[in-house]
Amino acid sequence: MSVQHFLTLLDLSPDDARHIVQRAVLLKQTPASAQQLRHKTLGLIFEKASTRTRVAFEVAMAQLGGSSVFLSMADSQLGRGEPIEDSAKVLSRMVDCIAIRTFEHAKLEHFAAHSAVPIINALSDDFHPCQLLADVQTYTEHRGDISGKTVAWIGDGNNMCQSYINAAVVFDFELKIACPPGFEPDGELIHKNRDRASLMQDPKQAVAGSDLVVTDVWASMGQEQEQPHRQDSFANYQVNQELMDQANTDALFMHCLPAHRGEEVSADLLDSQDSIVWDEAENRMHSQKALLEFLCCR
Ligand code: CP
Ligand code: NVA
Repeated sequence: MSVQHFLTLLDLSPDDARHIVQRAVLLKQTPASAQQLRHKTLGLIFEKASTRTRVAFEVAMAQLGGSSVFLSMADSQLGRGEPIEDSAKVLSRMVDCIAIRTFEHAKLEHFAAHSAVPIINALSDDFHPCQLLADVQTYTEHRGDISGKTVAWIGDGNNMCQSYINAAVVFDFELKIACPPGFEPDGELIHKNRDRASLMQDPKQAVAGSDLVVTDVWASMGQEQEQPHRQDSFANYQVNQELMDQANTDALFMHCLPAHRGEEVSADLLDSQDSIVWDEAENRMHSQKALLEFLCCR
C-alpha cells in the first residue's frame, strides 16, 4: 500500500478533509486521556522557527499517548549535508510519521519519495496545509459549514494564500484574493482553480460580501531582508475595522500568527470580537491530533 503523505491539502479527498475537521472538533471536547497514538513516535524536522506548529505537534503526540523527537538543522546530520534520501530511509525505520518545516517545497516531495512513513508539511515556502485544517475547524465552530461561504484573502500571495486556494477547492468555498501588483500567488494555481479563486488588487472589492477575512505577514520567513520595500508595497493592504466594515455583518477575522500589529492588521481589530485568532491558534493542536490519527492509525 502506498504511504499517505500530507504535503498539500490536495493529498486529502474532500471527504477525508471534512472527516479530519469534524474529528478535530470532537477531539477538542474529549479529555486528554486518549491513547490512539500509544507507542507511536513523530519526528519533527524544522529548518525554520516555530511556536504553534511545534508545540501543537509535541503536545498532540503526548496527549494521545505517543512521543516526539525534535531535530534541528544545527544538531542533526541533515544540517551537515547527509542526503535527504538517506535521512528519509533511516528515520522511516525508527519513527511512525515525520513533520517537516522547510524552505523549498521540492525538498518535502524529495523526502516523501524516499520515506516509508507519512510526511507532513509543517510549512514550506509554497504551502502551509496544517494551518488550513485549523482555520476551517475554527470557522466551522463559530459559523457552521464553510462550504458555500466567501473568504477574502488580503495581502501577500504567499504559502498561506496558496493553501487557501487549495482549501477553496477541497472545502468548496469562494475565495477572493487582493494582492499588490508583483505579490500574487502562483499564476498556474490561480488559473487551474479559477472557478473557486479570483484575483484582484482592491482589498475593498475582495472583502465586499465576504464571510471571513484573512491575512498574514507581509514578509514571510526567509524574506526578512525584503521587509522595508514590502512595507511600501503593502501600505494599502492593512486589515482594520474600516475594511472589515465592508464585509458581511457577521464576518470574522483570522490570521495564522505571528502577527505584526499595525502592519498587516491593526492592533484593535486583532484584539476585537470579530477576531478569532486565539481559537484558531488553539485549534492547531486539535486539528493536528486528528491529522496524526488519520495518518498513523490506518
Ligand atoms: N501559524 C504558525 O504556523 O505558527 P508557528 O510559525 O509559530 O508554528
Ligand atoms: N507566511 C508565514 C506564515 C508563518 C506561520 C511564513 O511563511 O513565515
